[in-house]
Amino acid sequence: MTTPMTPAHAPSSASNRASAPGGASLESTRARLRAAGQEHVLKFWPELDEARRGALLAQLASVDLESVPGLVRDYVHTKPAADLRGTIEPAVCYPRDHNRADKPWDRQAYFDRGAELIAAGNVAAFTVAGGQGSRLGFDGPKGCFPGGAVTNRPLFGCVADWILAAQARFCRAGVVIPWYVMTSPGNHEATVAFFRANAFFGLRERDVMFFPQGVMPALELGTGRMLLADRHELALAPDGHGGSIKALAVSGALADMQARGVEQLSYTQIDNPLVRAIDPVFIGLHAFAPDSSGEMSSKMVVKAHAGEKVGVFARVGGKTSVIEYSDMPAELANRTDGAGGLVFNAGSIAIHVISTAFIARLNTSGSGVRMPYHRADKKIACVDLGTGQRLDPAAPNAVKLETFVFDALPLAEASIVMETDRIEEFAPIKNATGPDSVQTCKEIQTLRASRWLEKAGVRIPYKPDGSPDCVLEISPRTAMFCADLKAPGAIRLPAAVGNGASVAL
Ligand code: UD1
Repeated sequence: MTTPMTPAHAPSSASNRASAPGGASLESTRARLRAAGQEHVLKFWPELDEARRGALLAQLASVDLESVPGLVRDYVHTKPAADLRGTIEPAVCYPRDHNRADKPWDRQAYFDRGAELIAAGNVAAFTVAGGQGSRLGFDGPKGCFPGGAVTNRPLFGCVADWILAAQARFCRAGVVIPWYVMTSPGNHEATVAFFRANAFFGLRERDVMFFPQGVMPALELGTGRMLLADRHELALAPDGHGGSIKALAVSGALADMQARGVEQLSYTQIDNPLVRAIDPVFIGLHAFAPDSSGEMSSKMVVKAHAGEKVGVFARVGGKTSVIEYSDMPAELANRTDGAGGLVFNAGSIAIHVISTAFIARLNTSGSGVRMPYHRADKKIACVDLGTGQRLDPAAPNAVKLETFVFDALPLAEASIVMETDRIEEFAPIKNATGPDSVQTCKEIQTLRASRWLEKAGVRIPYKPDGSPDCVLEISPRTAMFCADLKAPGAIRLPAAVGNGASVAL
């Protein structure tokens, strides 16, 4: 489906407004709907007022109706399995220990080369924040959710702090790190308003750009009919973070990057307060490693256990790919090597560097970006076509279609994967409780900070189970890396942290 509001991106300000393309007549829209077998969405037309009629026509103009019959055939009437043809082998990774005998690499050299790209203004930060965050049960853009273990700094603020720190440390005078934030039509206005209310977290307004991703209609299970959320409104959902590849181009964001001289995008999700929004080592490796085409690279952590809900890096048919956890055959997920370790242990933390040239290529080759859809069966509130009453289904009633950004990996000429330490940079908040929740996120932030502080000579209290008896948070503006705490001129540290204390540095 096309991105619904173009141009939705105003590079010089954050004031993008939702403005759907208009102008389509009822007759032409009805003809498109009839051809797609979806005329039912006009069922309530006679009773709609002018404003609602206009809104429905505008919404329909934003949907690629012509592709709907094919989608219904391929994804609703059948449930396609993931395409795992060809040999599946473990991915080759740059190990966390750069002195490892079987694959040594020069971390410092890549740090220096990545830092040079940042210094020259060739790197931008890119955050995908268009998701609905339904698992967290938070009513608002996920980036507004508190992320800081002690300060409750919103997740957007945590990313902004890293960008500010990286800018101050690496950029030449007058050079900035622009930040592109992908929203979705449903959370765009709220996201921009939140940045305004927080004075852009200290960044310059003109260096933060927002653009909404595209949407897809929810298709009724069994029939493939597009559902109505209201009598004048389709039930639409964001088209997945894979939609970013197209949205970057059609929104004008890509052109803005090219005008600014940005060559590499540091891609991260908005769920991880420890994320290194700009990582010189990773950027350098991506851009300069001999086995990288410099188009799209990824970071991994060793999976915690076979069932951990992370995508897995593998070489599928000779190409670096991610097999999403829901698509991973159990036999592969559980396969172990002679030493009992998982063979497919490279868990994706959804961090990539993507070149602007690659994004441009994907948007121009053939008929444009072709990413596979992934089907999810969901409960989607809708209007009953017979009665006009609102239905809140108790069981899944619709197919939601999304594309995933990592499906672009095999389209790169050569794609590398770098291993990192999960305690250092992976503390996602995905669920209200249990794994990947607010609680586990606080624990990981505390663990990381306790490691760093201990190395800097600070005594940390521990509980009998060995976990820190305190809550700790270190802002990247205080220290981006552990060594920063001991650097000359670093902040004065206490000799010890008290039992049960909450400390933010
Ligand atoms: C994701 C990855 C998984 C990876 C894990 C690591 C997918 C499908 N899976 O799982 O491979 O191991 O993170 O944490 O991504 N988003 C949009 N627009 C959308 C949908 C999502 O911007 O239409 C954004 C969300 O705002 C969020 C991110 O994408 O920042 C992740 O989406 P989510 O669907 O929650 O994926 P996970 O299950 O967390």
